[in-house]
Amino acid sequence: MEDQQMEFSLRPRYLAEYIGQKQAKDNLKIYIEAAKMRNEALDHVLLYGPPGLGKTTLSNIIANELGVNLRTTSGPAIERPGDLAAILTNLQENDVLFIDEIHRLHRTVEEVLYPAMEDYALDIIIGKGPSARSVRLDLPPFTLIGATTRAGLLSAPLRDRFGVVSRLEYYTVDELAYIVSRTADLLQVQIVGEASREIGMRSRGTPRIANRLLKRVRDFAQVKGDGIITVDIARAALISIQVDPLGLDEIDHKMLRAIILSFQGGPVGLDTIAASIGEESQTIEDVYEPYLLQIGFLQRTPRGRMITAAACKHLGLPMPSRS
Ligand code: ADE
Repeated sequence: MEDQQMEFSLRPRYLAEYIGQKQAKDNLKIYIEAAKMRNEALDHVLLYGPPGLGKTTLSNIIANELGVNLRTTSGPAIERPGDLAAILTNLQENDVLFIDEIHRLHRTVEEVLYPAMEDYALDIIIGKGPSARSVRLDLPPFTLIGATTRAGLLSAPLRDRFGVVSRLEYYTVDELAYIVSRTADLLQVQIVGEASREIGMRSRGTPRIANRLLKRVRDFAQVKGDGIITVDIARAALISIQVDPLGLDEIDHKMLRAIILSFQGGPVGLDTIAASIGEESQTIEDVYEPYLLQIGFLQRTPRGRMITAAACKHLGLPMPSRS
């Protein structure tokens, strides 16, 4: 099977198969059922939270549970208002339009979205100059699902037009272990419970990471063992791929060490950290930092990022003293 097809079939297709995010899931279940009973489009949904927690998966499930088509695009992919108008006019009644990275929509495109979301209408300007007039075009009722890693970057008028706003949380180790076991079943690889847990513990609360680690560990089990993922194989593989017991990787380590060793533990600005380790500020802010904040290894202050004693302890470095 082609990798992408396989990837797709690893995703759960129904809410009942989706592990974790209990709050978001329980509420969505009710909204979906209610919309179906009324034969209406589900209200617009904003999903936000760190990458890899299942925003795309959830939007696939929502469309599937509603029994409608899903049209997928992303903020940066919609360059001009006309691109969005083309997508909107091609939707069928009650369809779901998924816009990933919705915080990156162009302002001019965003303005087309307001009447579309609010009144299922498209305002088109015909002509130029003094004779220009606006014509209103009706759209089929639809559901917009917007996904973003940073709800704070959304403009207020856009954010206010979502009837359902759902924040996805990091998964617990138990949930991740369960996801790993489920994926292993689908990949037809045997894994012992303790090994699923070991992978879960090192997945930074993130199913996408758990599934990626599982695939790499499976490679080690196949080549170095007899294909069965035991806890010893899992641990040895995770050490080889440089994922530490808390799931921190090379980049996390580089970043934390730089703050401790080059910047006396901080406070230090994000851009300065990024430049010193050769990473994009945006990547650090969206991908690396949220988990380090969550586990209490970093603190954000108005003057920049600061290391914590827990981070120093984990790295085996002394806490820098500020003079
Ligand atoms: N695979 C990835 N994320 C998942 C989730 N939340 N539930 C079940 N399987 C998953």
